Amino acid sequence: MSEHEKQSIGVLTSGGDCPGLNAVIRGVVGGSERLGYGVVGFEDGFEGLVDPVRCRPLASDGMRGILQQGGTILGATNKGRFAALTGENTRVNLEPKLLLGVQDTCRQYNLKGLVCVGGDGSMAVAEQFAEVGIPVVGVPKTIDNDLSSTAFTFGFDSAVACATDAIDRLHTTAASHGRIMILEVMGRHAGWIALHAGIAGGADVILLPEMTWSYESLCSHIRRRRAAGLKSSIVVVAEGARLPSGEEITLERRAEDRQVRLGGIGATLSVELQKRLPLETRSTALGHLQRGGTPSAFDRFLATQFGAHAVRLVHQESFGQMVTYQPPEFGSCPISESIGCLNKVDPNSSVVDAARGLGISFGDGENCGRLFEPTDGKRVKGENSLAGTEQAPALSPAVGLLADPAMGLPAIGVPETGVPEMGVPVGG
Ligand code: F6P
Repeated sequence: MSEHEKQSIGVLTSGGDCPGLNAVIRGVVGGSERLGYGVVGFEDGFEGLVDPVRCRPLASDGMRGILQQGGTILGATNKGRFAALTGENTRVNLEPKLLLGVQDTCRQYNLKGLVCVGGDGSMAVAEQFAEVGIPVVGVPKTIDNDLSSTAFTFGFDSAVACATDAIDRLHTTAASHGRIMILEVMGRHAGWIALHAGIAGGADVILLPEMTWSYESLCSHIRRRRAAGLKSSIVVVAEGARLPSGEEITLERRAEDRQVRLGGIGATLSVELQKRLPLETRSTALGHLQRGGTPSAFDRFLATQFGAHAVRLVHQESFGQMVTYQPPEFGSCPISESIGCLNKVDPNSSVVDAARGLGISFGDGENCGRLFEPTDGKRVKGENSLAGTEQAPALSPAVGLLADPAMGLPAIGVPETGVPEMGVPVGG
């Protein structure tokens, strides 16, 4: 019997839950057993590590049927004694007695290593464990996909699928009533869910935490759609997007751990758009539906691989590392690197540019629409073609001045930003 056969690998799931956590646990158990380690599962995130310790042995027998289950069999929390602020440069030091308690637990259970599955806040805690010599390995989890150093976190793909399905459903009811339908999705610091689901679902406007926008540009885009015969519009907004005033819309500010619970921008936007446009507007906040349910095939793959690779890192004693996925390879990076800066949408990325080209507005007054084909046959970036399945009414000589008298919509002129919007979007 080799030395390490007497040892175990600890695993815990911390922060908000997301689809794929059970697949990681299963990956850790499978990988550990193969190398001769036992597995100890700690309950309710970091809380189960100390005072009192709450844990149970995990074995492959107990893993049957959990791969496709949402949530986590170990429980999770984003509150409590280990709650670290999420975001950049917001480190809160843990109490030394907690760290000592975790060290004791590791000794007591003869842990070779501790696999901590979590998002940016949880990785900030794991980093402090590593600093005091607790043999920790991180696994990146968040539906927001905002951890840097890994192209994807698990949970994101399932959340995007959920949001895309919601957009599909909103399209039909929006079209029936000729309404503006707003979908608020999660995305605290980064708008990846809004961006991916918005594109996948054919949204007309996407508002992100990373980009400033104005009511003028947003309304102008919707008016143009109306003028082009497109009576309904779908707006996807990330919960972390700010109002043009810079205000963040929150549901709750928790004094005890200085956490902010975001939510409500969709409803605020709905009220504001109805003031500005003679159109009915409805808002839906998708909320925790995005975090529940069965993980997508991609998330199961990613989570299972992450679990197995985390065990490999523990076995190699590569502590203080977080597993990463940069397709096609799985690798690792220092935990500190992963939380040093968040992975945010680049407003100048080719993805955003391509979305604009498809007629999606980001509410910022930038041109969006197809390339214009002037009579000399040269394509000029920055103007549109009206070619498509749905034809727009003729443009007035002054480009962009379109009126929709049937809807009582005024003619569109130069937006208040002073930047004329040239785009007439295609149907979506
Ligand atoms: O960080 C993931 C996330 O889903 C955020 O998008 C959201 O703001 C937050 O968790 C909500 O967490 P909870 O409601 O569970 O406290």
